[in-house]
Amino acid sequence: MSTQPNSLGSMWSKNISFIDGEIALSGIPASQLAKEFGTPTFFLDEEAFRSRATAWRDGLKAEFGERAGQVFYASKAFTCTAVAHWISEIGIGIDVATGGELAAALAGGVNPTKIELHGNNKSLTEIDRAVSIGVHSIVIDSLYEIDRVADAARKHGKRQPVLIRLTPGIEAHTHESISTAHEDVKFGFSIASGAAWAAVEKIATLPELELRGVHCHIGSQIFGTEAFEIAADRLLAFTAKYRDVYGSELPELDLGGGYGISYLADEVTVEPSDVLPTIGMAVRAACAKYSLALPTISVEPGRNIVGPTMFTLYEVGTVKDVVIEDGSIRKYISVDGGMSDNARTALYGAEYFATIAQRTSSAPTAQSRLVGKHCETGDIIIRDIQFPSDVIPGDLIATPATGAYGRSMASNYNHVPRPPVVAVIDGKARVIVRRETEADLLALDVAKM
Ligand code: LLP
Repeated sequence: MSTQPNSLGSMWSKNISFIDGEIALSGIPASQLAKEFGTPTFFLDEEAFRSRATAWRDGLKAEFGERAGQVFYASKAFTCTAVAHWISEIGIGIDVATGGELAAALAGGVNPTKIELHGNNKSLTEIDRAVSIGVHSIVIDSLYEIDRVADAARKHGKRQPVLIRLTPGIEAHTHESISTAHEDVKFGFSIASGAAWAAVEKIATLPELELRGVHCHIGSQIFGTEAFEIAADRLLAFTAKYRDVYGSELPELDLGGGYGISYLADEVTVEPSDVLPTIGMAVRAACAKYSLALPTISVEPGRNIVGPTMFTLYEVGTVKDVVIEDGSIRKYISVDGGMSDNARTALYGAEYFATIAQRTSSAPTAQSRLVGKHCETGDIIIRDIQFPSDVIPGDLIATPATGAYGRSMASNYNHVPRPPVVAVIDGKARVIVRRETEADLLALDVAKM
């Protein structure tokens, strides 16, 4: 018997179904995936990834036509050679924030003219490489960097396109560590304090730099469009000032990423067709208000493209009933991964859903906590969940929506090898990032004593 994915809940990716009591991806049941690839493993719904990336590409085009800029996939959410290759096939751009992310983009065949370099502390090497290969743009984040990029451009005999990262002073409603555009942050230049204007003036003195426009990124896991609408208005007011002083209009506007996804059944993943028309209206209204021509509009979704497309499959090792303060029992279910493959619960108090993946259970649920195998109390994947009380060692557990900032933020804490990523499409599964081995971990140790 097979059930449609939606009946499983909004946090499961498109090609997940329920076959004979098992969670299945593209028709392959969880038990078979575990047998072939081991646990813990990230399983990626490749068709869902491709269709989400394509929906952003087509949505931007539909909304802005000729004025559609790039969808820059924020590769910090998750990248590897295969993913970068899909991005280049789909024809969107990529946002890289480090030399490592740049290397993955190039390894995947992304055209440098579709790469945007970010970062609040780019190294000279990162800047030099980006300038020499001819990236689409470097997003300037400090006054020092203006000189560094100009020096590199001079050295390579190029004029480097740049954007300025602005801080529009918006409190987007999300966790403090992932909210990035209020005033007291390390990123960008504040519009309100005058820092942003000082950056414009400095760039204007350097012929090696071509100021193409302004950028902002207001935070992550954002629902609703109000914060984006305010950001668009403030950025365009700023570019109108530029036009008034310098007599020409800046041709590009990049509104960053941050579009939320469903982690729990009562959340709804933002779709490009939901947000882009509203953002389009706000941008057009602001352009009319400040008498500006419509610039090209770019966006940088990361989580929204990859987040919904993966689930993590774990195996239960132990189950323990612990009497807690109020006298009740909490079931501690320990799996073979933990904070090394999902740091988000420990870092941000993120919430996830989990289910037994290889069988159904009609047992009553019990107050439970899903934990990992690391040597600390904070090693929690799900703090509170009502979970079938008959869970036993050997059960497989799937946590959906782990595609963004899961594998990409994985660590080797406790010398645990990081899990592989397996892409599944059309009923076929293949490893795109292999599992680390103990030999990989020891390979970095150079001294024998
Ligand atoms: N553009 C810029 C300049 C960014 O800094 C980010 C994310 C993005 C785009 C993509 O944002 P997204 O669309 O994925 O929300 N580790 C945190 C999220 C940190 C986001 C950092 N910047 C988490 O796990 O929630």
